[in-house]
Amino acid sequence: TSEPSDTLDLEWVELPPWPRRPSDGHKGTFGSVLIVAGSRGMAGAAALAGRGALRAGAGLVRLAVPETILETVAGFEPSYAIVPLPADPQGRIDFAPPETWTLLEEQASWADAVAVGPGLGRSPELDRMIRFLAESPALERPRVFDADALNALADLGGLDHVRGPAVLTPHPGEAARLVPELAEQARHDRVGFLTTLSPRLRDSGIVFVLKGAETLIGDGRRARRNTTGNSGLATGGSGDVLTGVVAALLARGLAPFEAACLAVDRHGRAGDLGARRRGPNGLIASDLPEFIAEALREWE
Ligand code: APR
Ligand code: MG
Repeated sequence: TSEPSDTLDLEWVELPPWPRRPSDGHKGTFGSVLIVAGSRGMAGAAALAGRGALRAGAGLVRLAVPETILETVAGFEPSYAIVPLPADPQGRIDFAPPETWTLLEEQASWADAVAVGPGLGRSPELDRMIRFLAESPALERPRVFDADALNALADLGGLDHVRGPAVLTPHPGEAARLVPELAEQARHDRVGFLTTLSPRLRDSGIVFVLKGAETLIGDGRRARRNTTGNSGLATGGSGDVLTGVVAALLARGLAPFEAACLAVDRHGRAGDLGARRRGPNGLIASDLPEFIAEALREWE
């Protein structure tokens, strides 16, 4: 398909190679991921992101979740390390106690990459925490913002609050909230959206992943249209798995644009392998991490 002429200043690029796994590597070689996610009723979102990161090859995955869902999240997967954070009465992370901030700063500095958002819920304190993760110069490690973290960024006034390196993974609804002046394009003209947004992405260190059928990835100069995946991925939680895969690749040391392109490609391929096995109707998000493993085997 030919691109509209307004995309001339975007360079459409090929997929980079998946990083080799050195045979003498240790857990540190493959990166430590911190995922800040989950709330009562949304424990699965944290667990799915964690599984995505593990199946994508991360060396260590820690989930920071409200303490009230610790057992639930732990029960999903013995390979997680879990950091319990204070919880508010609604079962969300409580950012009022200073202890929460101390723990988060500590954990974020331990990690090679931080992912935040799936199933967090919304609260004014959460917006403050997202602002801290987005703006703090101390946090130079790459971060992924998804789901409720994107809604928080939207409330804070959008992209201007994000210091790179960062990957943002909105679906069209979240993209519309994040960049309200381009809401129409976010839904109906994705290439136009990315092109118009590009000057603001350039040199910001922000990579934008506009999800959906044929996810678009852009950093303001380069762009890629994903070709893998199918409507079987339109099932609750599949985006949470993608968040974990992106974080794993960032923790591995890939630059944000490369990490995003590879994660989206293999996540889609996992959806294709999963749909072959289960059918596009029967595929569910918790099936996906195993198919991520299979999708990666194709390249090993
Ligand atoms: N073809 C290919 N891929 C698709 C298709 C399709 N037709 N439909 C969806 N996908 C892919 C998207 O590209 C994305 O990777 O499935 C994933 C869906 O991600 P999300 O839209 O984030 O959905 P989900 O994970 O269920 O989000 C859970 O979190 O984003 C918040 O509040 C939001 O309720 C939502 C929740
Ligand atoms: Mg989502």
